[in-house]
Amino acid sequence: MDINDKIAIITGGASGLGEATARRITGMGAKVAIFDLNEDKGRALATELGENAMFQKVNVTSEEEVASAIAATVAQFGGIHICCNFAGIGSAIRTVGRNGPHPLDRFRFVIEINLIGTFNVLRLAAAEMVKNEPYNQYGGRGCIINTASVAAFEGQIGQAAYSASKGGVVGMTLPIARDLASMGIRVNTIVPGLINTPLLQGAGQQVIDSLAAQVLNPKRLGEADEIAHVAVMLMENEYMNGESVRMDGGIRMQPK
Ligand SMILES: NC(=O)c1ccc[n+]([C@@H]2O[C@H](COP(=O)([O-])OP(=O)(O)OC[C@H]3O[C@@H](n4cnc5c(N)ncnc54)[C@H](O)[C@@H]3O)[C@@H](O)[C@H]2O)c1
Repeated sequence: MDINDKIAIITGGASGLGEATARRITGMGAKVAIFDLNEDKGRALATELGENAMFQKVNVTSEEEVASAIAATVAQFGGIHICCNFAGIGSAIRTVGRNGPHPLDRFRFVIEINLIGTFNVLRLAAAEMVKNEPYNQYGGRGCIINTASVAAFEGQIGQAAYSASKGGVVGMTLPIARDLASMGIRVNTIVPGLINTPLLQGAGQQVIDSLAAQVLNPKRLGEADEIAHVAVMLMENEYMNGESVRMDGGIRMQPK
């Protein structure tokens, strides 16, 4: 897919990995709709990026909000070719901790945003992509990129809810790619390791240092633009489909 002139929605686009991807692909000529809860950061970024960017205040878990933001995107830019799902939250609660069992509502909350929110957005975006004229001889109409985490495979102590949500994203990638194949829509998932964004910065310096020491090579956190680089590869490379791609410096996280 040639990114120039394509139209993308980026959930979680106000910060971190989504922001880096919005910056990279607008720089390549794409038009971007940032879907995020953070109105201040989302609006500021859209203003900075100029006429090829717009902001929609969206909770990815809401059917109504996502549907109306997609309609607004189509009205402004004319369609949707790319859907990047970066919106997500972290969580660190043990199954049984000092205060007793893991609160079930918190487990549900994490699954609701990271897994169900991802599915909610991609199903509605795909329904728009189906209307595109094919952009190549193989009927290509669109590209969906989800975000999991290495915690889908090596979740640490306290990551039951987060790992379950991200494992769900990995698990649904192939069946969704199969569902959408006849419509010319490819689906892949990025599996980031430890990336230097506000989400990870919230964990505190001690935790960050201990995590960075576990990275195989290079011994540092990844940068958000390195994830944006993978996102661009998944958009451009038409033979990438149904796959979950780790980008993690070779880390295999220990229990803590
Ligand atoms: N940073 C890392 O090390 C890392 C590692 C693995 C996976 N991830 C995943 O990458 C994604 C992006 O993370 P990040 O590091 O850029 O985090 P971030 O906190 O910098 O950005 C996440 C964005 O998502 C938005 N968001 C949260 N809940 C939302 C909701 N319900 N509806 C709409 N927007 C919502 C936030 O407002 C924020 O702008 C997440 O899914 C995260 O789980 C990050």
